[in-house]
Amino acid sequence: MKLLVTGAAGFIGSAYARLAAAEHEITVLDKLTYAGRRENLDGVEHSFVHGSIADPGAVREAMEGCDAVVNFAAESHVDRSIAGQDPFVQTHVIGTGVLLDAVRELGVGRYLQVSTDEVYGSIDDGSFTESSPLDPSSPYSATKAAGDLLVSSHVHTHGLEAVICRGSNNYGPRQYPEKLIPLITLNALHGDPLPVYGDGRQVRNWLFVEDFARAIHLVLQKGEPGAAYNVGGPDECENIEVVRRVLELTGREESLIEHVADRLGHDRRYSLSSDRVRALGWEARVQFAEGLERTVSWYRDNEPWWGPIRSGEYREWYERQYGRPLGE
Ligand code: NAD
Ligand code: TYD
Repeated sequence: MKLLVTGAAGFIGSAYARLAAAEHEITVLDKLTYAGRRENLDGVEHSFVHGSIADPGAVREAMEGCDAVVNFAAESHVDRSIAGQDPFVQTHVIGTGVLLDAVRELGVGRYLQVSTDEVYGSIDDGSFTESSPLDPSSPYSATKAAGDLLVSSHVHTHGLEAVICRGSNNYGPRQYPEKLIPLITLNALHGDPLPVYGDGRQVRNWLFVEDFARAIHLVLQKGEPGAAYNVGGPDECENIEVVRRVLELTGREESLIEHVADRLGHDRRYSLSSDRVRALGWEARVQFAEGLERTVSWYRDNEPWWGPIRSGEYREWYERQYGRPLGE
């Protein structure tokens, strides 16, 4: 198969490309936003088109001759969507629409939309199934839900062979350090304060990035057209417990923990039932304890990866978001 993988210069897309390139020919379409980096694809054989999924010309150039499309392209951070929703609307809604039109016009056989548990909103007890109603809370999740609904509308109206894969919180190597785990890992390694929103008792369902990549590849090949597949991690954990574990792994004191103002509209808990993807033969292989150790070690050993990030745009984001310069 020849695959178009959009957003593959980012965290999860690059992990997926690394796995899929072993069997398939890959074209990457990526806008290279602050979160996209060509070096994330080092060692992955691919051809590269620099452009946006919202640009019909770039999309046609990249999609020509492809048998399937896997769409990772996104703005992925909830806090940035609260600060300004425009790029989220542009990429998740307009961009997804442009991709779907091109898939139809070029007769591409298969389309997979990468989505998130956040489209279902927060759940105090139990887990969301694929038939749970979409009830997103943030501009990030609202625009992701809009993208999902556009995909479903093309399945219903045009008979498109599309599937949706909704993952829970991913973690692992090459995640931009605006997200909780890489942010607190790098801060802990530097001996800087670890910002915990509100009481830190919010619960996330942690999924190692390689497990999500395997699930996506399986759903692309075996998923029922028109269906959505939830992919939840094996462990759930309160944020404060995640922070304590990172402190342990980095040998730092709990005095680095700093409770800061809560995120606006903060979802309390996410949880997914993964029975449908399990029925296809998927199982998570990496438990949270092992995955977190691997992740912290990766950041400890890869300063050439994060060094340039911590001296660039990220510093400005950090100061705007946390009201203090990085490193203080
Ligand atoms: P990321 O921010 O690390 O990477 C996103 C990539 O998309 C970057 O390479 C960026 O340059 C590219 N991009 C952004 N806008 C684009 C556009 N208009 N056209 C082309 N490329 C564009 O994100 P990630 O964490 O790897 O997330 C990938 C996908 O997985 C997203 O769709 C996200 O919603 C979904 N997801 C993420 C998580 C998570 O925990 N990170 C969990 C479940 C689902
Ligand atoms: P995040 O990694 O941004 O993922 P998401 O919002 O998509 O779940 O955040 C994970 C959890 O960690 C979430 O409950 C918010 C919290 N959090 C903090 O407490 N401090 C931080 O500095 C960040 C970035 C997140």
